Amino acid sequence: MAEIVQRLWRHFARQVPFGMQAPEFFAELAEQAPVVRFDGMWVISGYDLVTRLCTQPGFPMAAPVFPEAVHRDNPQFVRFFSSTMSVRAAEEHQRLRSVLTGAFSGRRLAALRDRIDDVVAELLAEPLRRGEAEFVGELATPLPARVTAVLLGVPPADREFVTERATGMMNQLAAGFLAETHPEAGPPITAAEFAELREYVTGLLEQRRAEPAEDLIGHLAGSYQAGKLSAGEAVDMVLLLFMTGLDTVTAALANTLVVLSERPEIAAALAADPACADRVFAEALRLRTPVAFGSRQVAHDLSVGKLHFKAGDTVILAFAAANLDPRKFEAPLEFRWDRPITGNVAFGHGSYYCLGSALAGMTALSLLQAVHDRLPTPSRPLAELPWRASLAFPTPRVLPVTFSPALAESGAR
Ligand code: HEM
Repeated sequence: MAEIVQRLWRHFARQVPFGMQAPEFFAELAEQAPVVRFDGMWVISGYDLVTRLCTQPGFPMAAPVFPEAVHRDNPQFVRFFSSTMSVRAAEEHQRLRSVLTGAFSGRRLAALRDRIDDVVAELLAEPLRRGEAEFVGELATPLPARVTAVLLGVPPADREFVTERATGMMNQLAAGFLAETHPEAGPPITAAEFAELREYVTGLLEQRRAEPAEDLIGHLAGSYQAGKLSAGEAVDMVLLLFMTGLDTVTAALANTLVVLSERPEIAAALAADPACADRVFAEALRLRTPVAFGSRQVAHDLSVGKLHFKAGDTVILAFAAANLDPRKFEAPLEFRWDRPITGNVAFGHGSYYCLGSALAGMTALSLLQAVHDRLPTPSRPLAELPWRASLAFPTPRVLPVTFSPALAESGAR
């Protein structure tokens, strides 16, 4: 056990990315050290305990802690992040979450499928013509940005502006909170840009109040008029949603491709039957969980089983490890068709369960089904790919691929 704990500590202390070996590392962690306690910080990797703490009162989501420089240079951004729905007190979180739950209803999402298919077809046209692409930059990054814009109802002419600003917010979060720096990381959003974005969103919400619409911004404008949230909370909600579906979906799509590349027989099964895309996606998210951790701040001294938590302790819930816990998943590193599609915690569990899980699934299915018989294949050895430095997103930063029309005809079926 000591060795795996030392490795864990090295990753946390020095921000060493997990890279290709992330699943092996997380599986070992869950098996050998399901509970690790450093000074005032816990890392919980056992599936049972992770799911239990996700539903246990007294474990609210921790607000990100930004360095002094971000407080000084962009205080409004810090204020926004310190008061988003997810980091509010339990009752406040519930009130705001219930406003959003309606916005992600199955009926509303089903109506988006054709539009997502159109975005996928548009983004794929040029890479397919060339027969190759940089999967992360050309497909996995723009796709969720476009889907988010459609979901929210951002006018087409403003989509580039919104995506650029949302990316700036992600860069600020990555540089300031996840301590992620790499040469390609784009510039963080400035205070002036953030103020401009807020003003823009305020204007959109006002427009929707004057002219109601079926999109998510229309839903939030209606909820404000019905007294379910304040005008400022509606603006913050839109800003939050600009971001939540970006890096998460990008990482999920890239990781799915990595899982398929490592297992040609699964790629062949998908080529033969696109209807199995939902199973492929669920198992891929379990094996290479894109959002590796959740974090909680213990509200008051409390005991769970034999564990005694102190008020203020930080608790890292290692979703990526819980998904590979051999006590829950037999032969956890194997892709198995017969695992239940909803059993894993890639989208979290309980109080903060991901509101965008169905939308993310729909986006992935749309892409996988569009390319099922000419799956993008990495054109560089997987082991040579550069991986994101953030421990929270164990995913390749760049993924050059070629499309292989031969797959379905190669006898792989
Ligand atoms: C495959 C892609 C995605 C993954 C892996 C993912 C993962 C997660 C996880 C693990 C959590 C819970 C965090 C915790 O408990 O600490 C979460 C929460 C959340 N996700 Fe996602 N997510 C994805 C896509 C999306 C999308 C597309 C949206 C919306 C457009 C979204 C919106 C949210 C929101 C709003 C929350 C917070 C819920 C709350 O505070 O109650 N996610 N997500």
